[in-house]
Amino acid sequence: MATEFTWLGHGSWSIRAGTINILLDPYLDDSPTVKVKSDEVEADYILVSHGHFDHVADVVAIAHRTHATVVANFEICEWLAKQQVKKTEQMNTGGGIDLPFGRVVMTLAHHSSGMPDGSYGGDACGFVLKLKDGNVYFACDTALFLDMKLIGAVGLDLAVLPIGDRFTMGPDDAVEATNLLAPRRVVPVHYDTWPPIAQDVNAWAQRIRVHTRAEAVVIEPGTTITF
Ligand code: NI
Ligand code: MN
Repeated sequence: MATEFTWLGHGSWSIRAGTINILLDPYLDDSPTVKVKSDEVEADYILVSHGHFDHVADVVAIAHRTHATVVANFEICEWLAKQQVKKTEQMNTGGGIDLPFGRVVMTLAHHSSGMPDGSYGGDACGFVLKLKDGNVYFACDTALFLDMKLIGAVGLDLAVLPIGDRFTMGPDDAVEATNLLAPRRVVPVHYDTWPPIAQDVNAWAQRIRVHTRAEAVVIEPGTTITF
């Protein structure tokens, strides 16, 4: 069965790989654009890219209810342990681990990572997932950086990039990132959640068509795609 990727909204994804459910950066209950609630989602694993509220808001509640294993950097795992999250996989930038659904590699991101309560959250990261049916890169919150060329060298079927500007790279840099990463398809996220990160996503997609070799996949929150 093909891996299914459902964009929940903002930076949140639900991924179904065979029988395994994976959440990325669940920010659901307080999100203006996400339709599903934290008590409705299934999770065997929860990947967390950094400590900001719009990425960790519902992690503790979902982990308690589902007993999912949280995959995050060392500092975030320590923070979760203090909140009685029992199962974590500690990682740090550049490292990879093999999990039942595939290999998870923690990639560089240029961003900050303080936790909502002011605790130190380590370094922000992105993720490359090497799954049975393809490779996907979630840039998560980051600036454009030249090493994206190295990340793309693995051969990406899908890249998920922020385009909102202000807190992450914006539309211009996301076009450049697409050229460095050279994915087969690119999905824009982290825009239109609030007015300060509003973007004309269709204009951006047109620029992807003209200036890159990737296919721009513009979707609404709640939409499921495959490789
Ligand atoms: Ni952030
Ligand atoms: Mn964010």
